[in-house]
Amino acid sequence: MRRQSTEDPPTSHNCGTMAWQAEEAASGLASGWARGRLSSGLEGRRGRSGPGGSTEAEDQQVEMFFRQYTSQEAVAKFTKATAGFGISYLLDNDYQSVYLRALDLLPQQTRERGIRMLEFGCGAGMNLIHMISLLRREGISLDSAIGTDFSPVLIEAAVQEARNYLRLEDWSKLQFSVAKNETLIENLSSALGKERTELENSFHFSLGVNTLRYCYAVNRELDCARNIFRLLVPGGVCVVIDMNKRFPFFRSDLKNRFRRQKEKQCYVPSLEEYAAPFFYAGFEVLRKEHFCWVPHSSGKALCRLLSGISPLLNVVAKSRAMRSLVVCRKPR
Ligand SMILES: C[S@@+](CC[C@H](N)C(=O)[O-])C[C@H]1O[C@@H](n2cnc3c(N)ncnc32)[C@H](O)[C@@H]1O
Repeated sequence: MRRQSTEDPPTSHNCGTMAWQAEEAASGLASGWARGRLSSGLEGRRGRSGPGGSTEAEDQQVEMFFRQYTSQEAVAKFTKATAGFGISYLLDNDYQSVYLRALDLLPQQTRERGIRMLEFGCGAGMNLIHMISLLRREGISLDSAIGTDFSPVLIEAAVQEARNYLRLEDWSKLQFSVAKNETLIENLSSALGKERTELENSFHFSLGVNTLRYCYAVNRELDCARNIFRLLVPGGVCVVIDMNKRFPFFRSDLKNRFRRQKEKQCYVPSLEEYAAPFFYAGFEVLRKEHFCWVPHSSGKALCRLLSGISPLLNVVAKSRAMRSLVVCRKPR
């Protein structure tokens, strides 16, 4: 499999390292990310040995993530009935307002004619299914939607969830497909039997929730951002939500602190690190901030307490909130 990030010729939106460095100097956005990646991952991939030019350690990580997300435990964690009260609350509140603001960035004509939407790393489809109901409530027209994930087990669960929670007319516009975030176009092209050129410039809206960090951990975040860039129409919008490195109380971290034998954890990027590959791929980064104090898995009481004190927490410690948010747009 060809590695896109290092071997593709520079495009008009990504005019090679020199031009990017000039832009970066102007915005100051991606410097830390690029320095690290240019000196190691990004420039070093070509000579690597594993499939697609990855290192052995990266391949092992991918294997570990894949095992984690093909377990029955993963299905329970990412399906609506068993995921926890917190995620339902967030989908109706914090995440919903992010999605509505991002949808507002699309031209009115697109919202009337019908949006083509893509969720990458969709798990069992909770966000995408919610988005489809949201569009209906807001009177925004949906042309089609597709959810992708590298876990066949979660894709199967997503199909079932859509059947359970969507009206037939919405359900018929939705597809799920097994695809990796870093090779979306290639994988979608084989899965859907469409030419890559047919897929490029075809989506209006894309989102990825709690999935980019896995690409990051194996140096594939730029591949992911570039695939999304190519899939979106000019003016198309991408929303990324993921864990905030600066939040001090993630349950997995706390548990690990008390383990004698520490479990290997997925690397959590900084806000700049989440935004940088999108900037580098050619996107305009429109929003880049921390938000949200409610854990996905929280019960009713904790959720109520945390959502009640969120306005105060946002004033005193916004950079420590649970999630990082990046909203970006492909230039028109
Ligand atoms: C924490 S879960 C989030 C699932 C879903 N977005 C949600 O919010 O309910 C992370 C998801 O990313 C998927 N994933 C991890 N690495 C991936 C990759 N390289 N390509 C595609 N999916 C990936 C996992 O299978 C899993 O479904």
